[in-house]
Amino acid sequence: MSDHMSDPAQDAEGPAIEMIGVNKWFGAYHALRDIDLIVARGERIVICGPSGSGKSTLIRCLNRLEAHQSGRIIVDGIELTADLRRIDEVRREVGMVFQHFNLFPHLTILENCTLAPIHVRKLARAEAEELASAYLRKVQIAEQADKYPGQLSGGQQQRAAIARALCMSPKIMLFDEPTSALDPEMVKEVLETIIGLAEEGMTMVCVTHEMGFARQVADRVVFMDDGAIVEINRPEAFFTAPKHERTRLFLGQILK
Ligand SMILES: Nc1ncnc2c1ncn2[C@@H]1O[C@H](COP(=O)(O)OP(=O)(O)OP(=O)(O)O)[C@@H](O)[C@H]1O
Ligand SMILES: [Mg+2]
Repeated sequence: MSDHMSDPAQDAEGPAIEMIGVNKWFGAYHALRDIDLIVARGERIVICGPSGSGKSTLIRCLNRLEAHQSGRIIVDGIELTADLRRIDEVRREVGMVFQHFNLFPHLTILENCTLAPIHVRKLARAEAEELASAYLRKVQIAEQADKYPGQLSGGQQQRAAIARALCMSPKIMLFDEPTSALDPEMVKEVLETIIGLAEEGMTMVCVTHEMGFARQVADRVVFMDDGAIVEINRPEAFFTAPKHERTRLFLGQILK
């Protein structure tokens, strides 16, 4: 080890996420092509790219909602293989928020938030409720705790989904287009919640086309096309001086 390497504490723990030469196929369809991506602890990555380019597939591989077929994925030092115990270990560290909230409709917001802490983390109900209330306050929907998801606005449901993920005390948060199903007036409140988490130093990988958010929050922007990473760049350079023609075309379309 040479002494010009980065912070020794960081080296001891290693990166938050390592994807090394990852490939994935759905049948004959090559969905991820030779993906190399290392995410440092505390780093904020935004992934963008055209529909069908593999963004969701990439982040779903990070908690093994999809299995990759070649290459290596190491999350918080744990390599994702077919070993179910390791998959569980990774899922405990990684929170995920989807486009369509995926709250359980028959449970109240509080119950949605306490379910995994009670059954997976084995917290006592009172302790889980205290934790859930704290996170619901943090995402500013404490007063919605006893309602059912169907009684909340889209923005409130998405903030509940974020609180639910946080109740597992994840080290890493994955977001897959968390605001794209929301009415425009609700996008801001959800983005502000995510920006708050980013400011606290949460490691996050966020698929989004909210380019204002990317500029404000991302340490690096990843542009994907056709299953491959075309470009990884600092936001400033990504938006003002993209390296690739395909990136320029994409930005031309979404920044109209
Ligand atoms: N379960 C699956 N079975 C077969 N093909 C799939 C499956 N999931 C995704 N794909 C295919 O893999 C490709 C990448 O899909 P993915 O959902 O990752 O794209 P995306 O970049 O997230 O697109 P979008 O912006 O529309 O969400 C697409 O061609 C899609 O049809
Ligand atoms: Mg997607």
